Parts: sequence; C-alpha cells; structure tokens
Amino acid sequence: MRQPRIVIVDPAGPNGLAYSKLVARLQPLEVRHTTSVADDMDIAQDDGFDLAILVIRSGRTTIKTLDQLVEADPDLPIVVIGNEDDEEAVGDYLRHGAATYLPVENADRDLEGALVETLTTSRQRAAEKTLRRAIERPYSFEDFLGESPPMKAVYTLIERVATNFVDILVTGETGTGKELVAQAIHRRSRRKDAPFVPIDCGAIPDTLLESELFGHERGAFTGADARRIGLIEVADGGTLFLDEVAELPPALQAKLLRVLQERRLRRVGARKETPVDVRIVAATSRDLDAMVGNGTFRRDLFYRINVVRISLPPLRQRGDDIGLLAEFFASRTGREMGRTAGRFSTDAYQVLRHYSWPGNVRELHNVVRRAMALAPEDVIDVDDLPDEIVAAAGKNVRSVFADSEKASAESSGFFAQRAAHVAEFEQEYLQELIKQVRGDVSAAARKAQVPRGTLYRLLKSHAIDPSRFRGDVNQSQPE
Ligand SMILES: Nc1ncnc2c1ncn2[C@@H]1O[C@H](COP(=O)(O)OP(=O)(O)OP(=O)(O)O)[C@@H](O)[C@H]1O
Ligand SMILES: [Mg+2]
Repeated sequence: MRQPRIVIVDPAGPNGLAYSKLVARLQPLEVRHTTSVADDMDIAQDDGFDLAILVIRSGRTTIKTLDQLVEADPDLPIVVIGNEDDEEAVGDYLRHGAATYLPVENADRDLEGALVETLTTSRQRAAEKTLRRAIERPYSFEDFLGESPPMKAVYTLIERVATNFVDILVTGETGTGKELVAQAIHRRSRRKDAPFVPIDCGAIPDTLLESELFGHERGAFTGADARRIGLIEVADGGTLFLDEVAELPPALQAKLLRVLQERRLRRVGARKETPVDVRIVAATSRDLDAMVGNGTFRRDLFYRINVVRISLPPLRQRGDDIGLLAEFFASRTGREMGRTAGRFSTDAYQVLRHYSWPGNVRELHNVVRRAMALAPEDVIDVDDLPDEIVAAAGKNVRSVFADSEKASAESSGFFAQRAAHVAEFEQEYLQELIKQVRGDVSAAARKAQVPRGTLYRLLKSHAIDPSRFRGDVNQSQPE
C-alpha cells in the first residue's frame, strides 16, 4: 500500500511553525505544502491526497478557506490548527466540515495522534461505504435503526465529531436514544478501548454525588475508611457519560467546570489535584437554555459543554422510521418468544404512524412487546394496541390529511413542519436529478445551478451515493 499523502495549507509557507518539523518526522509520509487552496495545485484534481492540514492564521485564513477546501474535495479529511479562544468558533470549524480541531499550543503534542486517527477513520469509512453498498440492507448506524433525513443528519454529526477532542452535549426528549449517541461516539473515538462510564446525575442523592464523581481520600468524612477513586477517574483515558446533567447541584457544576477546563480534579478531602484525561458526553432531556436563562444552570459550564450539540429528533418527526422500528422490535420479540415475527395490520400501522410517541423509541418498543404478548395470531391488529394510544392517534388521523408523509409533523409547530416538507422535497429532487445525470455530480451541479461542494454535502446528508447511478442505463432517463 502506498504511503499516505498529506497536503498542508498554511499561508506562512513550509517553515511556518514547529509542527512542520513534526510532520517531517512522521516519515515516510509524503507531505506537500501550499499557501492557499486556490494556489498552484488543484486539490480536487490531484489524485488522492489522504488528508489536509489547514492552518488558520488570523487575518489571513478564515472559515472561508475551510469551505473552499471542502468544496474542492468533500471526501478529504481536514485537520484544522488554530488559536481560537472562542469555543463557538471551534464548533464552527467542525460544523463546516473539519474532522478535528487542534489548538496551536497542543499541536506538537497531539498532531501525530490526530493524523493517525483521522487517516484510520477515513479509511474505515471508505471501507464501510463499499460494504454497505454491497449488501443493500436497511440503513443502520451503530445501534441505531432508522433512515429518516433528521436521523441521517445525526449519524453524520456523530461520525464527524467522534474523533475530536471536544466535549459534547446530547439533547432530546426521553427515549430518543441519547445514551446510544454517547456509546456510538465512544466506540468511534480513539478512546474505544478505554472505559465508557455512564453516570445518571439525577439518580444519585446530592450528598453522595460528589464523592461518587470525584472520589475521596481516607478520612475525608465519617465512614470514609479507605481512599476511593471516583467515576471521573475510572473513566480516565475514556469517556464519561454524564446523563441528566441538568440535575447537577450548583457546587458540583462549579467543580465539573474545573475538570473540563483544566483536566484536573480534587478528590474529596485531598490537598492536591490529580490530572485526568476524560472526554465528557453530557445529556439532558430538559431545556438547558432556559435553565441558564433563569439561573439554575451555570452559564460558563453550559458554554463549555455546548460546543457541539447533537439534538435527537422526536420519533414523531422521523416519518417511516416508526414502521421500520416497529417491525424490527416485532421480529426481535418474536424470536425471544420463540414464535414468528409479528406483522401489523394496515389499521394498526396507521395508529403507530399517527400517535405522537411522547416516550419515543422506548415507548414504541414497550407497546410492540405488549402487543406481541397479547396478539392471538401473528398479525397485530388495533385491538392489541393500548386503548389510549388508539384514541390519541385517532384524533390525529382525523385532524390531518391522513396517510401523508407530513402528517406526523403536523402535531408540531411551523418550523418542524417546514423542515419536514423541505427535507422531503430535497430527497425527491436530488434523487431525480442524480438519476438524470447518471451520477455525474459536476453535471448535476450545473443543472441545478448549485455549487458543486454544496451539492455534495446535500447528497451526503440524504445518503444519496452518486456512484450508484453511474452507467446504470436502466435507472436513468434521457434528459
Ligand atoms: N434509533 C434507534 N434504533 C433502535 N433502538 C433505539 C433507537 N433509539 C433508541 N433506541 C432504544 O430505545 C431505548 C431508549 O434509548 P436511550 O436510553 O438511549 O434513550 P434516552 O434518550 O437516553 O432516554 P432517557 O432520556 O429516558 O434516558 C434503548 O433501549 C435504545 O436501545
Ligand atoms: Mg438515558
């Protein structure tokens, strides 16, 4: 296999900083320098850079340079090195397509690891793509099932941020899969072989929470007859999943902030601090923005964990994922019960589609399990579903144009409905467009009068793979 080829985009040129020496040390990589994306070499045309390092220098390079780079080659993983003080700006780089962000002062220490990791994951991703194409199965990602556009956006975001050093906030109603997000992030990160430690801040009494999280020294309080390591230290090298983070009492919010900022902690009763290397994934089903507004959650801590936010859509906005999940749960329950998989009658299916699912995936799972236990035959009918669900769904069915794709979004507000319509339009439009040009993205971009990079991103977010339409005469239509 050939050596990885890296391009460094740095306005200061090849001798800009010490890290270029570092890269040189990473022999035998092939490294090329350019001072701007539009420079002497055409990054898109050059067959096969495996990775780009973009050095942001204030006044000279901006987020626009990153956009140009993504536009030039949407599949190229990009490591950004910069000196932002502002967390928001770091989040922006990631949202604009950077694979990783490194603060310049850590570049010497972390660049090697970041390169190895980014290269490995981008190779893995390429292999996964091929595999997925080969075995046309219903779309799934890690332990998630579902292929609705809002869920695909979540998968893309997880892929993008998992290998970063940033802490992450996961929000979403109860039962939407916040813990699955945390696990997926851990498994896709370089920390995957170190512990994943979940802790539910809402389930532990305030008086115990501090020593549970931070540990304590012997004699720290009555009954502390031995030193005890806290969960944050247990997670050293790995990921700490802080579930229900909104329930943290104020004193612990302050202590946690220190861990996040300094990566050090003080055990209860200890004089000295201990360094820890944890990545924090925090989750909440509460409205943290509002809690910051009314002073019940520290603003500085909020800013620190909200660098990247992954918001899970409620089940009612996931369209036919409801059917997909219901069938999956029915077949799994069937297997557990030693009988054939359940199927849903058309009416039962309509009820599932039109109910609002306040308990989301967890509620759906329970409803299916219960129905399987009750249904006398293999077909699950309306009678096998809980009365209150049938009644609530019935109201929805009558109040909207039944059976429509958009019906499930109908119970929510204007923005949710608009987003559902737009997503549906995009999916149909792009499918048709890419079919007509037989997978030629440049031709598609011209036809739709959209920049090529933008079109690439749109196709990605709808999981439309142009190469599947290449040379497939049966699928394409004459223009
Ligand atoms: N997309 C999905 N595909 C398959 N299973 C899912 C999906 N989303 C959630 N689940 C399952 O639903 C259950 C609830 O998920 P999870 O515990 O991650 O939710 P949560 O958002 O943490 O909920 P809570 O706020 O109540 O803690 C789990 O059993 C999980 O495996
Ligand atoms: Mg949970």
